[in-house]
Amino acid sequence: MKMVRLGATDLKVSRICFGTWQLSPRFWGEIPMGEWREAVLAALGNGINFFDTADAYGDGFAEEQLGDVLREAGVRDDVIVATKFYWHVEDGGDRYYPDTRADYLLRACEASLRRLKTDHIDLYQIHAWDPLIRPEEVGAAFEKLRQDGKVRWFGVSNWNAGQMALGRAHFPLATLQPKYNLLDREAEASIFPYCLEHQIGTLVYSPLERGLLGGHCHPGQEFSDSRAKNPLFQGKRFEGLLKGIDQLRPLAEEAGLTIAQFALRWTLTHPAVTCAILGVKSARHLAAAPAAEDVLPQDVWHLAARIMEKAAGTPA
Ligand SMILES: NC(=O)c1ccc[n+]([C@@H]2O[C@H](COP(=O)([O-])OP(=O)(O)OC[C@H]3O[C@@H](n4cnc5c(N)ncnc54)[C@H](OP(=O)(O)O)[C@@H]3O)[C@@H](O)[C@H]2O)c1
Repeated sequence: MKMVRLGATDLKVSRICFGTWQLSPRFWGEIPMGEWREAVLAALGNGINFFDTADAYGDGFAEEQLGDVLREAGVRDDVIVATKFYWHVEDGGDRYYPDTRADYLLRACEASLRRLKTDHIDLYQIHAWDPLIRPEEVGAAFEKLRQDGKVRWFGVSNWNAGQMALGRAHFPLATLQPKYNLLDREAEASIFPYCLEHQIGTLVYSPLERGLLGGHCHPGQEFSDSRAKNPLFQGKRFEGLLKGIDQLRPLAEEAGLTIAQFALRWTLTHPAVTCAILGVKSARHLAAAPAAEDVLPQDVWHLAARIMEKAAGTPA
């Protein structure tokens, strides 16, 4: 597995990061936990040392499970754990809102440390932009966490360039976690140039567009998870995208890759992308990991982008 330095940090991470949002039953349904634990061990065996989670995933369930398996395997010091805070949940989940106030984030961090069964978080991220953020307050709280040895580096997710500029004025913003894949290229316009200019490491999410680019979907397929309500997975738009994916097949075959590997490699080819977070339910999903071994040739990358751009234009 290819290892890289994460932005300007001292963290050396695998280009594939293991995503744990799949442990959120609200979005993904119940998944077999034995298979999931085996997947974590298989990832470790494949040289994947980077894990992304969040306190919101399954309302703490993902952090707990990840903490358990890493502790049982005795590998905590060999891996890089990234987690996130943002959603302040009250009344047993009935009331929730973004919260980046210092007192809340310090409490959220303690709770994540407890669930992850660790004394430090390698990368602590703000899950999304909070319109009520007071960046100087966040900066002071982050500095306390750093001095106390509870967090090594800080990052943000779903922030734009202007928001990152403001954040950087108040705390050392080391990473960004944006969405990026063959069907969602919004990050290319201003987010990626900003990250390249300021040496901000990126761990991009949904590289397979929630499985749509996995190569295994078929027309008329029905989904029992949150994809049942996702417009990309419905009707004519879904069928148009699947036709586009069929046109990618010869390109993937020529490169000796499956569609999932091709789509993942397409994402990893962008120079601003440090790592791609793959959402994993079972070890079979790790079959996409060899994508990280290389990048696509310039012409193939553009050709694939054009094919999917055209396919995405199919009326819904
Ligand atoms: N910061 C944020 O706001 C944010 C948002 C979303 C995600 N994330 C992070 O990013 C991670 C990945 O994002 P994601 O789950 O949206 O996207 P993804 O990796 O694009 O999609 C994951 C889904 O794709 C399918 N898949 C995975 N590997 C495959 C393979 N080798 N071949 C074929 N299909 C495969 C699986 O679903 P099926 O097999 O059921 O089709 C899996 O659940 C999450 O786990 C989370 O850590 C962060």
